[in-house]
Amino acid sequence: MSRAPLVDGHGRRIADLRVSVTDRCNFRCQYCMPAEGMPWLEREEILCFEEIERLVRLLVGMGVEDVRLTGGEPLVRRDFPLLAAMLADIDGLHDLSLTTNGYLLERDAAALAAAGIDRLNVSIDSLQRDRFFQMTRRDALPQVLRGLEAAVAEPRLGQVKVNAVALRGFTEEEAIPFAEFARERGVQVRFIEFMPLDGDCAWTSDQVLPGEELRAIINAVHPLEELPREPSATARVFRFVEPVPGGGKGTGEVGFIDPVTEPFCSDCNRIRLTSDGLLRTCLFSLHETDLRGPMRAGADDDELEQIVRDAVWRKELKHRVGQAGFRQPARGMSAIGG
Ligand code: 5AD
Ligand code: SF4
Repeated sequence: MSRAPLVDGHGRRIADLRVSVTDRCNFRCQYCMPAEGMPWLEREEILCFEEIERLVRLLVGMGVEDVRLTGGEPLVRRDFPLLAAMLADIDGLHDLSLTTNGYLLERDAAALAAAGIDRLNVSIDSLQRDRFFQMTRRDALPQVLRGLEAAVAEPRLGQVKVNAVALRGFTEEEAIPFAEFARERGVQVRFIEFMPLDGDCAWTSDQVLPGEELRAIINAVHPLEELPREPSATARVFRFVEPVPGGGKGTGEVGFIDPVTEPFCSDCNRIRLTSDGLLRTCLFSLHETDLRGPMRAGADDDELEQIVRDAVWRKELKHRVGQAGFRQPARGMSAIGG
């Protein structure tokens, strides 16, 4: 680390950066985007690879160790593996990961591994084709499962994780099939509570299915045992107590990310960079800090560092989802990056 560590005004050291590389997506998940009429950013608004690389390098110099690439859908960005390779080359970056909807993973898994992606998460909300279609508005489950297989089969990629957004009235019946999928395939399936970041601004608290409830459903059929947790980890992860019949991989796990019912803000060590070059210090930030403008106006790294430090110093203490006065940010998840 060549610069002083990046800390916020509440004493949290920032070590994790999420970079959204595009706001575009080939899916239209109910909990993320409206079915139609999404306003896209213009091409020149989006950071080019060199600009992303410069900002990531600067932040790694300030102590960021983990970088996750997100979108929209990152794999729809042209030549994405090239960007991954540029970032993987940055000294001091320990972990480079990716969150994808998996649609293009069959095509890209080998190229991503070769580029130096360490780990990836695939979003799958249902293991039934018609329900997957209902949730994502794309009939793409078989294609996504082929992508997942390609990633699991890629020896250079670490453990593959599956993300499922948990929705009341939908995900209850997915719980056991997902747990069995995790056991059989040796993947970690993580249930994420639905957050008010949907494009339709239609979130209500009664649509949230608490992780605790899903855990009880699974535990009743397949007993679970909690694994130790890193302080800044967002998920509580459980392994299966019983061995897998028939000797499957036996390394499957289930995880629960419960930002609504069990917020983990006090240990939050992350910040976000949007595809148009704005720094966000919380998923629910109402304020963003422009880095693209100063960068394109010729700011040097020391000047950018100061802008970042000032913004991070004011990082929100915690989110107020579900409390009176909560305001949903103007950008939805697809424009923030998950
Ligand atoms: N609430 C919770 N998770 C969401 N995601 C997208 N929108 C929401 C939301 N409103 C998830 C996606 C993906 C990750 C980037 O964020 O399913 O796994
Ligand atoms: Fe696309 Fe991901 Fe949003 Fe679904 S959740 S529409 S896959 S960006």
